[in-house]
Amino acid sequence: MTTSGTAVGNGTRRKVTLGTLRSMKAQQVPASFVTAYDYPSAAFAEAANIDMILVGDSGGMTMLGYHNTMPVTMEEMMFFSKAVCRGAKKAFVIGDMPFLSYQLSNKLAMQNAGRFISEAGCDAVKLEGGKRMAKRIRAIADSGVAVMGHLGLTPQSISLAGGYKVYGKTKKEFESLREDAIAVEDAGASFILLEAIPEEPAGYIRESVSIPVYGIGAGKKLDGQLLILHDLIGAFVGDIKPKFAKRYANIGEQITKALLAYGDEVKSGQFPNLEHTYPIEQHELGAIRELVQGA
Ligand code: KIV
Repeated sequence: MTTSGTAVGNGTRRKVTLGTLRSMKAQQVPASFVTAYDYPSAAFAEAANIDMILVGDSGGMTMLGYHNTMPVTMEEMMFFSKAVCRGAKKAFVIGDMPFLSYQLSNKLAMQNAGRFISEAGCDAVKLEGGKRMAKRIRAIADSGVAVMGHLGLTPQSISLAGGYKVYGKTKKEFESLREDAIAVEDAGASFILLEAIPEEPAGYIRESVSIPVYGIGAGKKLDGQLLILHDLIGAFVGDIKPKFAKRYANIGEQITKALLAYGDEVKSGQFPNLEHTYPIEQHELGAIRELVQGA
């Protein structure tokens, strides 16, 4: 894969669209893809020319402290998505449909997908599941919304799956995943995300469809790579550390260090000092003192 020809042209970054993503695939330019849940992280991703942002329901874990993604609501996703869309002017933003926002009926799925687009300002939505979700994908795509299918490890089904595991490690699992990918494309999805699948089978799945296929923990034979922001920057407070989660910084450690130093300075009286307090004219201060003392 080459690295030229991204959405950055002549120093001016253009809005990343579905067309951009398709031509990046055609030119074998891998897309950089991260999660974000708030305005500053979307703005940081923007400053770094990240191509795609997923407002993941993983925000329930990274931002809200839930143990898994199941309790995340549409209202929480709207809150995250609106903030991200305010910060991400050029990146392609995908809103992640939370548990029970699309499983119950086509109508509900279309209504909630529509909210990500019209209320929050996202460019597309993502939902989990293959063949069993084909009808929902069809309904949402027919209403004019671009859909990303999510296959492999699908966190909203971990109770059914019996926990987090790697998929596509046997011929049977690979065949089922490939059928899912084809069903998702046939239903009208614009792209697919593969999670926790070994590199070679993931690459074969990409070859079995024509739409862009991105991965998280699915090797490099794909059209782009997703990482959870909090894993990437070392800010995840929790005990889940997937093998694929490469850490590029240790922001959590830096935040703790800064807070320890602040706490120590408050206790010792070093903070605030003159530099951090507002000055007042001596004659005004004298007048205030007289007022206070005379009271
Ligand atoms: O919510 C999320 O961030 C996701 C990724 C784990 C793929 O769905």
